[in-house]
Amino acid sequence: MEKLIIRGNRPLRGEVTISGAKNAALGILPACILSDEKCKIENLPNIKDIQNYISILTRLGAEVDMLSNGRTCIDAQKINYENTSSAHEEIRNMRASYYLIGALLGKCKRVEIPLPGGCDIGPRPIDQHMKGFQALGAEVYIEGGKVIAKAEELLGATIFLDVVSVGATINIMLAAVKAKGVTAIENAAKEPHVVDIANFLNLMGANIKGAGTEVIRITGVEHLSGCTYMVIPDQIVAGTYMLAAAVTYGDILVKNIIPKHMDPLTAKLNEMGILTEEYDDAIRVIGKENPKAANVKTAPYPGFPTDLQQPMAVLMCLADGVSTIHENVFENRFKYLDELRKMGANVSVNGRTAMIIGNGKLTGSVIKATDLRAGAAMVLAGLAAEGKTEIMGLNHIDRGYEDMEEKLRSLGADICRVSAKEDADEIDHEVC
Ligand code: UD1
Repeated sequence: MEKLIIRGNRPLRGEVTISGAKNAALGILPACILSDEKCKIENLPNIKDIQNYISILTRLGAEVDMLSNGRTCIDAQKINYENTSSAHEEIRNMRASYYLIGALLGKCKRVEIPLPGGCDIGPRPIDQHMKGFQALGAEVYIEGGKVIAKAEELLGATIFLDVVSVGATINIMLAAVKAKGVTAIENAAKEPHVVDIANFLNLMGANIKGAGTEVIRITGVEHLSGCTYMVIPDQIVAGTYMLAAAVTYGDILVKNIIPKHMDPLTAKLNEMGILTEEYDDAIRVIGKENPKAANVKTAPYPGFPTDLQQPMAVLMCLADGVSTIHENVFENRFKYLDELRKMGANVSVNGRTAMIIGNGKLTGSVIKATDLRAGAAMVLAGLAAEGKTEIMGLNHIDRGYEDMEEKLRSLGADICRVSAKEDADEIDHEVC
Protein backbone atom coordinates (compact mmCIF):
# COMPACT_ATOMS: atom_id res chain seq x y z
CA MET A 1 0.00 0.00 0.00
CA GLU A 2 1.23 3.47 -0.82
CA LYS A 3 0.53 6.90 0.57
CA LEU A 4 1.18 10.47 -0.44
CA ILE A 5 3.06 12.82 1.85
CA ILE A 6 2.55 16.50 1.27
CA ARG A 7 4.15 19.37 3.12
CA GLY A 8 1.74 22.12 2.24
CA ASN A 9 1.13 25.83 2.55
CA ARG A 10 3.36 26.84 -0.35
CA PRO A 11 2.10 28.64 -3.47
CA LEU A 12 2.14 26.59 -6.67
CA ARG A 13 3.44 28.47 -9.68
CA GLY A 14 4.15 27.61 -13.31
CA GLU A 15 2.47 25.77 -16.18
CA VAL A 16 0.72 22.44 -16.37
CA THR A 17 -0.47 20.56 -19.45
CA ILE A 18 -3.77 18.71 -19.16
CA SER A 19 -4.12 15.18 -20.51
CA GLY A 20 -7.03 13.65 -22.43
CA ALA A 21 -10.46 13.37 -20.82
CA LYS A 22 -10.98 10.16 -18.87
CA ASN A 23 -14.73 10.12 -19.28
CA ALA A 24 -14.53 10.78 -23.03
CA ALA A 25 -11.86 8.10 -23.52
CA LEU A 26 -13.93 5.61 -21.49
CA GLY A 27 -16.70 6.00 -24.09
CA ILE A 28 -14.43 6.13 -27.13
CA LEU A 29 -12.64 2.86 -26.31
CA PRO A 30 -15.84 0.76 -26.28
CA ALA A 31 -17.11 2.71 -29.32
CA CYS A 32 -14.19 1.12 -31.24
CA ILE A 33 -16.08 -2.19 -30.87
CA LEU A 34 -18.58 -0.89 -33.43
CA SER A 35 -15.98 -0.24 -36.12
CA ASP A 36 -15.24 -2.70 -38.93
CA GLU A 37 -11.68 -1.39 -39.17
CA LYS A 38 -8.77 -0.24 -36.98
CA CYS A 39 -9.12 2.98 -34.99
CA LYS A 40 -6.21 5.09 -33.84
CA ILE A 41 -6.93 7.06 -30.68
CA GLU A 42 -4.68 9.92 -29.60
CA ASN A 43 -4.37 11.84 -26.33
CA LEU A 44 -5.45 8.90 -24.19
CA PRO A 45 -4.58 9.68 -20.56
CA ASN A 46 -2.12 7.31 -18.90
CA ILE A 47 -4.35 6.37 -15.94
CA LYS A 48 -5.57 3.16 -14.33
CA ASP A 49 -9.13 3.38 -15.68
CA ILE A 50 -7.85 3.51 -19.26
CA GLN A 51 -5.33 0.70 -18.68
CA ASN A 52 -8.15 -1.42 -17.22
CA TYR A 53 -10.49 -0.68 -20.13
CA ILE A 54 -7.81 -1.63 -22.64
CA SER A 55 -7.25 -4.84 -20.70
CA ILE A 56 -11.00 -5.59 -20.86
CA LEU A 57 -11.08 -4.98 -24.64
CA THR A 58 -8.06 -7.26 -25.08
CA ARG A 59 -9.73 -10.04 -23.10
CA LEU A 60 -12.82 -9.61 -25.28
CA GLY A 61 -10.69 -10.27 -28.37
CA ALA A 62 -9.47 -6.85 -29.54
CA GLU A 63 -5.94 -6.36 -30.85
CA VAL A 64 -4.48 -3.32 -29.15
CA ASP A 65 -1.18 -1.66 -30.04
CA MET A 66 -0.03 0.76 -27.40
CA LEU A 67 1.94 3.42 -29.27
CA SER A 68 3.89 6.22 -27.60
CA ASN A 69 2.52 9.48 -26.14
CA GLY A 70 -1.02 8.38 -25.42
CA ARG A 71 -1.64 6.93 -28.88
CA THR A 72 -3.29 3.54 -29.24
CA CYS A 73 -4.38 1.52 -32.24
CA ILE A 74 -7.40 -0.73 -31.67
CA ASP A 75 -8.68 -3.44 -33.97
CA ALA A 76 -11.90 -4.70 -32.38
CA GLN A 77 -13.19 -6.76 -35.30
CA LYS A 78 -12.68 -10.07 -33.48
CA ILE A 79 -14.45 -8.96 -30.32
CA ASN A 80 -17.16 -11.37 -29.32
CA TYR A 81 -19.79 -11.08 -26.60
CA GLU A 82 -19.01 -14.66 -25.56
CA ASN A 83 -15.56 -13.61 -24.32
CA THR A 84 -16.84 -11.29 -21.59
CA SER A 85 -16.61 -13.98 -18.88
CA SER A 86 -12.78 -13.71 -18.88
CA ALA A 87 -13.07 -10.04 -17.91
CA HIS A 88 -15.81 -10.24 -15.28
CA GLU A 89 -13.63 -9.05 -12.41
CA GLU A 90 -12.40 -5.97 -14.29
CA ILE A 91 -15.88 -5.17 -15.60
CA ARG A 92 -17.34 -5.39 -12.10
CA ASN A 93 -14.76 -2.94 -10.76
CA MET A 94 -15.45 -0.17 -13.22
CA ARG A 95 -18.41 2.13 -13.74
CA ALA A 96 -17.79 2.84 -17.41
CA SER A 97 -17.90 -0.87 -18.23
CA TYR A 98 -21.63 -0.23 -18.73
CA TYR A 99 -20.73 1.10 -22.22
CA LEU A 100 -19.95 -2.49 -23.20
CA ILE A 101 -23.70 -3.11 -23.10
CA GLY A 102 -24.50 -0.49 -25.75
CA ALA A 103 -21.46 -1.27 -27.89
CA LEU A 104 -21.83 -5.09 -27.81
CA LEU A 105 -25.58 -4.86 -28.32
CA GLY A 106 -24.89 -2.66 -31.36
CA LYS A 107 -22.27 -5.06 -32.74
CA CYS A 108 -23.40 -8.56 -31.67
CA LYS A 109 -27.06 -7.98 -30.66
CA ARG A 110 -26.27 -9.80 -27.46
CA VAL A 111 -24.37 -9.09 -24.26
CA GLU A 112 -24.08 -10.49 -20.78
CA ILE A 113 -21.86 -8.65 -18.29
CA PRO A 114 -21.67 -8.14 -14.52
CA LEU A 115 -23.31 -5.00 -13.14
CA PRO A 116 -20.79 -2.13 -13.20
CA GLY A 117 -19.05 -0.84 -10.04
CA GLY A 118 -17.35 2.56 -9.64
CA CYS A 119 -17.07 5.30 -7.01
CA ASP A 120 -19.25 4.92 -3.93
CA ILE A 121 -21.19 8.18 -4.14
CA GLY A 122 -24.73 6.90 -3.65
CA PRO A 123 -27.03 4.66 -5.67
CA ARG A 124 -26.13 4.59 -9.35
CA PRO A 125 -28.95 2.76 -11.14
CA ILE A 126 -28.86 1.97 -14.86
CA ASP A 127 -32.63 1.94 -15.38
CA GLN A 128 -32.43 4.73 -18.00
CA HIS A 129 -29.82 2.79 -19.99
CA MET A 130 -32.08 -0.27 -19.89
CA LYS A 131 -35.14 1.74 -20.86
CA GLY A 132 -33.24 3.00 -23.91
CA PHE A 133 -32.14 -0.47 -25.03
CA GLN A 134 -35.67 -1.79 -24.53
CA ALA A 135 -37.09 1.03 -26.66
CA LEU A 136 -34.67 -0.01 -29.42
CA GLY A 137 -36.21 -3.51 -29.31
CA ALA A 138 -33.84 -5.37 -26.99
CA GLU A 139 -34.89 -7.67 -24.20
CA VAL A 140 -32.93 -6.45 -21.16
CA TYR A 141 -32.92 -7.80 -17.64
CA ILE A 142 -30.74 -8.21 -14.56
CA GLU A 143 -30.18 -11.73 -13.28
CA GLY A 144 -27.62 -13.12 -10.84
CA GLY A 145 -25.72 -9.81 -10.68
CA LYS A 146 -25.46 -9.63 -14.46
CA VAL A 147 -27.06 -7.43 -17.08
CA ILE A 148 -28.32 -9.47 -20.00
CA ALA A 149 -29.44 -7.80 -23.22
CA LYS A 150 -30.40 -9.42 -26.52
CA ALA A 151 -32.20 -8.44 -29.69
CA GLU A 152 -33.09 -9.93 -33.07
CA GLU A 153 -32.56 -6.49 -34.51
CA LEU A 154 -32.41 -2.96 -33.16
CA LEU A 155 -34.92 -0.44 -34.48
CA GLY A 156 -34.72 3.33 -34.01
CA ALA A 157 -37.06 4.82 -31.38
CA THR A 158 -37.70 7.98 -29.39
CA ILE A 159 -36.46 7.81 -25.82
CA PHE A 160 -37.16 10.48 -23.21
CA LEU A 161 -34.70 10.19 -20.30
CA ASP A 162 -36.35 10.68 -16.90
CA VAL A 163 -33.08 12.08 -15.54
CA VAL A 164 -30.26 13.77 -17.42
CA SER A 165 -27.77 10.91 -17.47
CA VAL A 166 -24.36 11.08 -19.12
CA GLY A 167 -23.98 7.30 -19.07
CA ALA A 168 -27.45 6.55 -20.46
CA THR A 169 -27.09 9.17 -23.22
CA ILE A 170 -23.77 7.73 -24.41
CA ASN A 171 -24.84 4.11 -24.00
CA ILE A 172 -28.04 4.56 -26.02
CA MET A 173 -26.04 6.42 -28.66
CA LEU A 174 -23.66 3.44 -28.92
CA ALA A 175 -26.53 0.97 -29.32
CA ALA A 176 -28.38 3.18 -31.81
CA VAL A 177 -25.65 4.07 -34.32
CA LYS A 178 -26.17 0.81 -36.21
CA ALA A 179 -29.88 0.38 -35.46
CA LYS A 180 -32.32 0.58 -38.36
CA GLY A 181 -34.03 3.95 -38.71
CA VAL A 182 -33.94 7.07 -36.56
CA THR A 183 -33.42 7.23 -32.80
CA ALA A 184 -34.08 10.39 -30.81
CA ILE A 185 -32.70 10.79 -27.28
CA GLU A 186 -34.65 13.54 -25.54
CA ASN A 187 -33.54 15.22 -22.30
CA ALA A 188 -30.05 14.08 -23.27
CA ALA A 189 -26.90 14.98 -21.33
CA LYS A 190 -24.86 17.78 -22.93
CA GLU A 191 -21.47 17.14 -21.31
CA PRO A 192 -18.36 17.79 -23.45
CA HIS A 193 -17.59 14.07 -23.47
CA VAL A 194 -21.03 13.24 -24.89
CA VAL A 195 -20.16 15.54 -27.81
CA ASP A 196 -16.67 14.05 -28.10
CA ILE A 197 -17.96 10.49 -28.37
CA ALA A 198 -20.57 11.58 -30.95
CA ASN A 199 -17.80 13.31 -32.95
CA PHE A 200 -15.73 10.12 -32.85
CA LEU A 201 -18.64 7.98 -34.01
CA ASN A 202 -19.45 10.48 -36.78
CA LEU A 203 -15.85 10.39 -37.97
CA MET A 204 -16.25 6.60 -38.28
CA GLY A 205 -19.32 7.18 -40.46
CA ALA A 206 -22.19 7.41 -37.98
CA ASN A 207 -24.97 9.92 -38.49
CA ILE A 208 -25.50 11.67 -35.14
CA LYS A 209 -26.91 15.17 -34.96
CA GLY A 210 -27.57 17.42 -31.97
CA ALA A 211 -24.97 16.11 -29.51
CA GLY A 212 -24.46 18.90 -26.98
CA THR A 213 -28.16 19.84 -27.11
CA GLU A 214 -31.17 18.33 -25.34
CA VAL A 215 -32.17 16.22 -28.33
CA ILE A 216 -29.78 13.88 -30.11
CA ARG A 217 -30.93 12.32 -33.39
CA ILE A 218 -29.19 9.24 -34.66
CA THR A 219 -29.87 7.80 -38.09
CA GLY A 220 -28.60 4.24 -38.14
CA VAL A 221 -25.85 3.19 -40.59
CA GLU A 222 -24.73 -0.32 -41.56
CA HIS A 223 -20.97 0.06 -41.26
CA LEU A 224 -18.52 2.14 -39.32
CA SER A 225 -15.00 2.51 -40.68
CA GLY A 226 -11.68 3.21 -38.97
CA CYS A 227 -10.37 6.68 -38.20
CA THR A 228 -7.77 8.63 -36.25
CA TYR A 229 -9.24 10.63 -33.40
CA MET A 230 -7.86 12.87 -30.67
CA VAL A 231 -9.63 12.82 -27.28
CA ILE A 232 -10.59 16.24 -25.84
CA PRO A 233 -8.76 17.58 -22.76
CA ASP A 234 -10.06 16.58 -19.33
CA GLN A 235 -12.43 19.21 -17.93
CA ILE A 236 -12.27 17.85 -14.38
CA VAL A 237 -8.49 17.46 -14.24
CA ALA A 238 -8.16 21.01 -15.62
CA GLY A 239 -10.53 22.21 -12.90
CA THR A 240 -8.49 20.43 -10.26
CA TYR A 241 -5.30 22.29 -11.29
CA MET A 242 -7.20 25.59 -11.50
CA LEU A 243 -8.28 24.97 -7.92
CA ALA A 244 -4.70 24.03 -6.98
CA ALA A 245 -3.70 27.61 -7.88
CA ALA A 246 -6.64 28.99 -5.92
CA VAL A 247 -6.13 26.97 -2.70
CA THR A 248 -2.37 27.59 -2.55
CA TYR A 249 -2.69 31.28 -3.44
CA GLY A 250 -0.44 30.45 -6.37
CA ASP A 251 -0.37 31.31 -10.07
CA ILE A 252 -0.82 28.47 -12.59
CA LEU A 253 -1.28 28.49 -16.36
CA VAL A 254 -3.45 25.45 -17.10
CA LYS A 255 -2.68 24.52 -20.72
CA ASN A 256 -4.20 22.32 -23.43
CA ILE A 257 -7.78 22.83 -22.33
CA ILE A 258 -11.02 24.08 -23.85
CA PRO A 259 -11.71 27.22 -21.76
CA LYS A 260 -15.44 27.14 -22.61
CA HIS A 261 -15.75 23.82 -20.74
CA MET A 262 -14.41 25.53 -17.64
CA ASP A 263 -16.98 28.38 -17.59
CA PRO A 264 -18.95 27.20 -14.51
CA LEU A 265 -15.74 26.94 -12.45
CA THR A 266 -14.11 30.08 -13.85
CA ALA A 267 -17.26 32.09 -13.09
CA LYS A 268 -17.34 30.76 -9.51
CA LEU A 269 -13.65 31.53 -8.96
CA ASN A 270 -14.19 35.08 -10.24
CA GLU A 271 -17.20 35.44 -7.93
CA MET A 272 -14.89 34.47 -5.05
CA GLY A 273 -12.50 37.25 -6.05
CA ILE A 274 -9.92 35.04 -7.76
CA LEU A 275 -8.43 36.39 -10.97
CA THR A 276 -8.41 34.34 -14.15
CA GLU A 277 -7.02 35.09 -17.61
CA GLU A 278 -8.41 33.18 -20.56
CA TYR A 279 -6.41 32.27 -23.67
CA ASP A 280 -7.34 30.19 -26.75
CA ASP A 281 -6.46 26.87 -25.12
CA ALA A 282 -5.36 27.83 -21.61
CA ILE A 283 -6.52 29.55 -18.44
CA ARG A 284 -4.27 31.28 -15.93
CA VAL A 285 -5.52 31.29 -12.34
CA ILE A 286 -4.00 33.74 -9.88
CA GLY A 287 -4.98 32.76 -6.32
CA LYS A 288 -5.63 35.24 -3.56
CA GLU A 289 -5.72 34.93 0.22
CA ASN A 290 -9.12 35.02 1.93
CA PRO A 291 -11.30 34.43 -1.13
CA LYS A 292 -14.97 35.30 -0.70
CA ALA A 293 -17.42 32.59 0.36
CA ALA A 294 -19.71 31.22 -2.35
CA ASN A 295 -22.69 28.96 -2.99
CA VAL A 296 -22.43 26.11 -5.47
CA LYS A 297 -25.24 24.01 -6.90
CA THR A 298 -24.09 21.05 -8.94
CA ALA A 299 -25.99 20.36 -12.15
CA PRO A 300 -25.58 18.60 -15.49
CA TYR A 301 -23.50 20.54 -18.06
CA PRO A 302 -23.35 23.51 -18.50
CA GLY A 303 -23.98 23.66 -14.74
CA PHE A 304 -21.30 23.30 -12.08
CA PRO A 305 -19.90 19.73 -12.45
CA THR A 306 -20.57 17.38 -9.54
CA ASP A 307 -17.05 16.01 -10.10
CA LEU A 308 -15.61 19.38 -9.06
CA GLN A 309 -17.72 19.92 -5.94
CA GLN A 310 -15.31 17.95 -3.74
CA PRO A 311 -12.21 19.89 -4.90
CA MET A 312 -14.21 23.14 -4.62
CA ALA A 313 -15.05 22.38 -0.97
CA VAL A 314 -11.35 22.77 -0.11
CA LEU A 315 -11.33 26.34 -1.41
CA MET A 316 -14.48 27.03 0.59
CA CYS A 317 -12.67 25.90 3.77
CA LEU A 318 -10.18 28.71 3.15
CA ALA A 319 -12.78 31.32 2.21
CA ASP A 320 -13.94 34.22 4.29
CA GLY A 321 -17.45 33.38 5.55
CA VAL A 322 -20.10 30.73 5.05
CA SER A 323 -20.26 28.76 1.80
CA THR A 324 -22.79 26.14 0.76
CA ILE A 325 -22.77 23.25 -1.68
CA HIS A 326 -26.02 21.78 -2.93
CA GLU A 327 -25.37 18.40 -4.56
CA ASN A 328 -28.11 17.85 -7.13
CA VAL A 329 -26.61 14.96 -9.09
CA PHE A 330 -25.58 12.24 -6.62
CA GLU A 331 -27.28 11.39 -3.34
CA ASN A 332 -24.27 10.66 -1.20
CA ARG A 333 -21.29 12.72 -2.24
CA PHE A 334 -20.28 14.29 1.09
CA LYS A 335 -18.44 11.41 2.78
CA TYR A 336 -15.10 13.11 2.12
CA LEU A 337 -16.05 15.99 4.41
CA ASP A 338 -15.22 13.77 7.40
CA GLU A 339 -11.62 13.77 6.18
CA LEU A 340 -11.57 17.56 5.80
CA ARG A 341 -12.91 17.83 9.35
CA LYS A 342 -9.73 16.07 10.52
CA MET A 343 -7.84 18.98 8.97
CA GLY A 344 -9.85 21.55 10.91
CA ALA A 345 -12.66 22.22 8.44
CA ASN A 346 -15.88 23.48 9.96
CA VAL A 347 -18.53 21.67 7.95
CA SER A 348 -22.05 20.37 8.48
CA VAL A 349 -24.34 18.41 6.20
CA ASN A 350 -28.09 18.52 5.95
CA GLY A 351 -29.40 16.14 3.31
CA ARG A 352 -28.00 17.22 -0.03
CA THR A 353 -26.61 20.52 1.30
CA ALA A 354 -23.25 21.04 2.96
CA MET A 355 -22.40 24.22 4.84
CA ILE A 356 -18.74 25.17 5.13
CA ILE A 357 -17.62 27.91 7.47
CA GLY A 358 -14.29 29.06 6.12
CA ASN A 359 -11.62 29.87 8.65
CA GLY A 360 -8.74 30.65 6.34
CA LYS A 361 -6.68 27.56 7.03
CA LEU A 362 -6.38 23.79 7.13
CA THR A 363 -3.85 21.81 9.11
CA GLY A 364 -2.03 18.67 8.02
CA SER A 365 -3.45 15.32 9.10
CA VAL A 366 -3.65 11.65 8.14
CA ILE A 367 -6.57 11.33 5.73
CA LYS A 368 -7.85 9.00 3.05
CA ALA A 369 -9.26 9.30 -0.44
CA THR A 370 -12.74 7.77 -0.32
CA ASP A 371 -13.31 8.00 -4.08
CA LEU A 372 -11.64 9.51 -7.15
CA ARG A 373 -12.66 13.17 -6.85
CA ALA A 374 -12.55 13.01 -3.06
CA GLY A 375 -8.93 11.96 -3.61
CA ALA A 376 -8.30 15.08 -5.68
CA ALA A 377 -9.86 17.14 -2.88
CA MET A 378 -7.56 15.50 -0.31
CA VAL A 379 -4.51 16.37 -2.40
CA LEU A 380 -5.67 19.98 -2.71
CA ALA A 381 -6.29 20.10 1.04
CA GLY A 382 -2.78 18.75 1.69
CA LEU A 383 -1.27 21.35 -0.65
CA ALA A 384 -3.10 24.14 1.16
CA ALA A 385 -2.62 22.88 4.71
CA GLU A 386 -0.02 23.95 7.21
CA GLY A 387 2.26 21.04 8.15
CA LYS A 388 2.39 17.48 6.91
CA THR A 389 -0.54 15.61 5.35
CA GLU A 390 -0.55 11.90 4.65
CA ILE A 391 -3.09 10.60 2.16
CA MET A 392 -4.09 6.94 1.88
CA GLY A 393 -6.34 5.32 -0.73
CA LEU A 394 -4.23 6.30 -3.73
CA ASN A 395 -5.85 3.62 -5.90
CA HIS A 396 -8.76 6.03 -6.30
CA ILE A 397 -6.55 8.95 -7.39
CA ASP A 398 -4.56 6.79 -9.81
CA ARG A 399 -7.78 5.93 -11.63
CA GLY A 400 -8.10 9.43 -13.03
CA TYR A 401 -5.01 11.64 -12.65
CA GLU A 402 -1.99 11.21 -14.93
CA ASP A 403 1.42 11.86 -13.31
CA MET A 404 -0.18 13.92 -10.57
CA GLU A 405 2.80 14.05 -8.23
CA GLU A 406 5.24 14.93 -11.04
CA LYS A 407 2.97 17.68 -12.31
CA LEU A 408 2.48 19.13 -8.84
CA ARG A 409 6.20 18.91 -8.07
CA SER A 410 6.98 20.82 -11.25
CA LEU A 411 4.69 23.56 -9.91
CA GLY A 412 6.65 23.68 -6.65
CA ALA A 413 4.71 21.26 -4.45
CA ASP A 414 6.49 19.23 -1.78
CA ILE A 415 4.82 15.90 -2.45
CA CYS A 416 6.05 12.34 -2.57
CA ARG A 417 4.64 8.83 -2.73
CA VAL A 418 5.98 6.27 -0.34
CA SER A 419 5.14 2.77 0.65
CA ALA A 420 2.70 3.05 3.57
CA LYS A 421 5.04 0.76 5.55
CA GLU A 422 7.94 3.17 5.35
CA ASP A 423 8.33 5.74 8.07
CA ALA A 424 7.99 8.98 6.18
CA ASP A 425 10.30 10.81 8.52
CA GLU A 426 13.14 8.54 7.49
CA ILE A 427 12.80 9.47 3.86
CA ASP A 428 15.31 11.97 2.60
CA HIS A 429 13.29 15.13 2.30
CA GLU A 430 14.99 15.94 -1.03
CA VAL A 431 13.22 13.03 -2.75
CA CYS A 432 9.90 14.63 -1.92
C1 UD1 B 1 -20.82 10.11 -15.33
C2 UD1 B 1 -19.35 10.27 -15.04
C3 UD1 B 1 -19.13 10.78 -13.62
C4 UD1 B 1 -19.94 12.05 -13.38
C5 UD1 B 1 -21.39 11.86 -13.79
C6 UD1 B 1 -22.19 13.16 -13.75
C7 UD1 B 1 -18.32 8.57 -16.41
C8 UD1 B 1 -17.64 7.26 -16.47
N1 UD1 B 1 -18.71 8.98 -15.21
O1 UD1 B 1 -21.30 9.12 -14.40
O2 UD1 B 1 -17.75 11.06 -13.46
O3 UD1 B 1 -19.91 12.36 -12.01
O4 UD1 B 1 -21.47 11.35 -15.14
O5 UD1 B 1 -21.61 14.11 -14.56
O6 UD1 B 1 -18.49 9.26 -17.41
N2 UD1 B 1 -29.29 7.90 -13.01
C9 UD1 B 1 -30.47 7.17 -12.89
N3 UD1 B 1 -30.67 6.14 -13.76
C10 UD1 B 1 -29.78 5.84 -14.74
C11 UD1 B 1 -28.61 6.58 -14.86
C12 UD1 B 1 -28.39 7.62 -13.99
O7 UD1 B 1 -31.29 7.44 -12.01
O8 UD1 B 1 -30.04 4.89 -15.50
C13 UD1 B 1 -29.05 9.02 -12.08
C14 UD1 B 1 -27.80 8.80 -11.23
O9 UD1 B 1 -28.09 8.05 -10.08
C15 UD1 B 1 -27.39 10.21 -10.90
C16 UD1 B 1 -27.79 10.99 -12.17
O10 UD1 B 1 -28.74 10.17 -12.85
O11 UD1 B 1 -28.15 10.69 -9.82
C17 UD1 B 1 -26.65 11.31 -13.11
O12 UD1 B 1 -25.93 10.12 -13.37
P1 UD1 B 1 -25.12 9.91 -14.72
O13 UD1 B 1 -25.04 11.21 -15.48
O14 UD1 B 1 -25.68 8.73 -15.42
O15 UD1 B 1 -23.69 9.57 -14.17
P2 UD1 B 1 -22.72 8.43 -14.65
O16 UD1 B 1 -22.87 8.18 -16.11
O17 UD1 B 1 -22.79 7.28 -13.71
